[in-house]
Amino acid sequence: MRHLLSIGDLSRDDVERILASADRVAGIDDKLPSLKGKLVLTLFFESSTRTASSFELAAKRLSADTMSFKAAGSSVEKGESLKDTVLTLSAYDPAAIVVRHPHIGAPQLVARWTEAAVVNAGDGKHQHPTQALLDLFTMQQALGRLEGLHVAIVGDVVHSRVARSLIQALALVGAHTRLVGPPTLLPTGIEALGCDTATEVEAIDTADVVYVLRMQRERMESAFVPSLREYAARWGITPERLRPGQKVMHPGPINRGVEIDGRVADGPDSLILEQVRAGLAVRMAVLQDLLAARPALEVVA
Ligand code: NCD
Repeated sequence: MRHLLSIGDLSRDDVERILASADRVAGIDDKLPSLKGKLVLTLFFESSTRTASSFELAAKRLSADTMSFKAAGSSVEKGESLKDTVLTLSAYDPAAIVVRHPHIGAPQLVARWTEAAVVNAGDGKHQHPTQALLDLFTMQQALGRLEGLHVAIVGDVVHSRVARSLIQALALVGAHTRLVGPPTLLPTGIEALGCDTATEVEAIDTADVVYVLRMQRERMESAFVPSLREYAARWGITPERLRPGQKVMHPGPINRGVEIDGRVADGPDSLILEQVRAGLAVRMAVLQDLLAARPALEVVA
């Protein structure tokens, strides 16, 4: 693997190799030496809590040097372009650049301008491949399998890079996906990715996993639902709407009382914090997969 830009770049074998490698590193508390002498640069042009922190920690656990660049407070505010930012920071010879950007395709551009391996940490509403991989890992650990699982993704699918990546990833491993939400939040023609759609929340009934998405209001140009109260009343995931044992996931950040009831988020079937833990293991596996085979830079004394 040269870069990880989209789930579409991966075969089922790639996914299985990464999940197996995440499983190996998941239990290890010590640092691993695999990326010693290499630099992992995180380049975030959008806010992030989980993705940014887990990539940085993953790189550190693999003994890499890390540098975290945030657009806010940088020369981007003085008008420096993405290209010049990448050319500037590439002068430090990063082995990997992890990039999050509001524009679709930005990570592909970064990959053209640098020698580093590029990992897409979210581009607009397009792709977020490491999120989909950590979600598969979480499901596999909790339910013991992926093949044949039924997953209902509920909420704002139309603005969600998480949903687009996850639908593709679930199809790749032989799981079934159903998208549930108000018709305005389900993209037309999305069934072509290999899923079905439903507009009533009762359609989550047969799912092994209910995967909840937040209303991504920062990406909405107009009102997609009459009000958040009405959304919560019709599609919010409450204990009453779930069967005992039905697992619940959410990529975060959660909005308690809107798309997910606090009792569900904190309940025994919630895998939300497992997803955060999985993020560390899976991002270690991805960095290792991309970088470990490459020779470290020669150090000239
Ligand atoms: C998501 C994102 O930024 O795409 N968060 C994440 O990475 N865990 C989902 C979101 O913002 O709703």
